[in-house]
Amino acid sequence: MNKTLPEKDFTFKRTNIVIPEKGSFTWKAPSNIALVKYWGKYDVQLPKNASISFTLDACYTLTTLEFRKRQIPTEALISSKGFIATKRESTFEIFLDGERKPEFSEKIATFITRISNLVSFISDYDLIIKTRNSFPHSSGIASSASGMAALALCIMSIEKKLNPEITDEYFYEKASFLARLGSGSASRSIKGPLVVWGQHKEIEGSSDLFGIEFSSTIHENFKNYHDTILLVDKGEKQISSTIGHDLMHNHPFAQKRFEQAYQNLSKLVTVLQNGDIKEFITIVESEALTLHAMMLTSNPYFILMKPNTLSIINRIWEFRTRTNANLCFTLDAGANVHILYPEKEKEIVNQFIVNELLEFCQNNHYICDRVGLGAKQTH
Ligand code: PMV
Repeated sequence: MNKTLPEKDFTFKRTNIVIPEKGSFTWKAPSNIALVKYWGKYDVQLPKNASISFTLDACYTLTTLEFRKRQIPTEALISSKGFIATKRESTFEIFLDGERKPEFSEKIATFITRISNLVSFISDYDLIIKTRNSFPHSSGIASSASGMAALALCIMSIEKKLNPEITDEYFYEKASFLARLGSGSASRSIKGPLVVWGQHKEIEGSSDLFGIEFSSTIHENFKNYHDTILLVDKGEKQISSTIGHDLMHNHPFAQKRFEQAYQNLSKLVTVLQNGDIKEFITIVESEALTLHAMMLTSNPYFILMKPNTLSIINRIWEFRTRTNANLCFTLDAGANVHILYPEKEKEIVNQFIVNELLEFCQNNHYICDRVGLGAKQTH
């Protein structure tokens, strides 16, 4: 698939507004779960195929970004106060739950360096990032999507302060564009309830550069959809997403997979409008298993599912045959299982989860989430 990228100028234009001495903004950004998966990228964080996700609600990151005009030279700041400097002269500190987190520095430094020519004002400031997640740190739920989205939105709030003329459309598109440069799936954590990221000819406005809200009318069946996340394995995964994406470069099935994802997205667009839950289940489960099939057939190969992941899948299939309930599973790049089901069936599915699936979760832990509407500014 040869792609031509639309040009989009997201460079910050300096205005004659005086740069404020200091300030702070806080954004709450949700996690998301892909229905059609993104796995494989090109250039700088651009997706090999278009994807679509449900935006979540209960799983989010809350980030406050404090900014102060730099008073003392960068070198003095680094040696005296433990600030981290990026290659482009920006400095930042990062705290998770009130504790300094030097282990996050590299990822944030890469992100800030990547975006610095688009938000040139950040190099005028020392940045203090204070962040917390609504889900436990070691739950195996990636915080990169919600975390990068929240940070990108805080940075866009500074841009808006410096240039109040920017439109909401520009604000959110650029926030998604910036978030994408931190973590691909973060581009889908700005809006909701459904977000498409990646160019698809049947979805108007879709782009590889940023995520857009899926704007067609969504059938009642898919409103308030539930996502219960079964925490099968809370440990660090052995292979990072970055390595997994890279392995798609020389993957023997890559091209077919990208074409299949494209077709699955076409089918899902129809299903989301006509309410065909059975077809939804088929597409979503096939996408989850194909994602993991790509991992199983990479060179080197790897497995992120655990025995309990498979036990849960089998129990779901048995339960569906027995009851005709409309629940299905999906997986991200890990062992945890997301169970998706309609609002109308929440009692029966919840009971099934508690009675039959909790035994497969680490310490019986699970998270009840549902589809949400996107990020919110709280300060
Ligand atoms: O955003 P990344 O680079 O962490 O990639 C995540 C990809 C999957 O979660 C496996 C699929 C997706 O589309 O979210």
